[in-house]
Amino acid sequence: MVEELEESLVFIKPDAVAKRYVGEILHRFEVAELDIVQLKQIQIDSTLADQHYAEHVHKSFYPSLKDFITSGPVVVIVLRGNRAVARIRALCGATDPSEAEPGSIRSDFGVSMTENAIHASDSVDSARREIANFSAFF
Ligand code: PPS
Repeated sequence: MVEELEESLVFIKPDAVAKRYVGEILHRFEVAELDIVQLKQIQIDSTLADQHYAEHVHKSFYPSLKDFITSGPVVVIVLRGNRAVARIRALCGATDPSEAEPGSIRSDFGVSMTENAIHASDSVDSARREIANFSAFF
């Protein structure tokens, strides 16, 4: 099978950082043979939140999402590996933790649609855009 090396932008959200789940989540990516290309704990400000969630800024849930995502540190990571985007999304599970597959990161560590522990790029194109948004930190 042909290797399809991809990068994905992941961040561990304020809820999971506050609950000290960072090590456990990183371990899952390392076990999956994904390489850490960049890793940094940062604070997302208002401008970066609007840029990152540009497709959601007009949705009813965005004010509470923005409050949450700017409420405390996140750990932002660029991961690289074979078919990384889809494999990472599978490890994360569905957006809603109550619907996420048992054993997935959101099932184990998320509590709601907002406090769902982790973000991961949903396509190779999104990953490129998102990595560029966060590039000032790397
Ligand atoms: S949707 O329904 O297609 O817009 O959802 P999705 O693209 O999977 O993710 C949307 C991101 O917004 C966060 N969020 C919510 N989504 C839906 N409904 C509510 N109420 C909500 N509150 C917050 C959700 O966690 C997704 O964040 P990311 O960082 O992309 O995982």
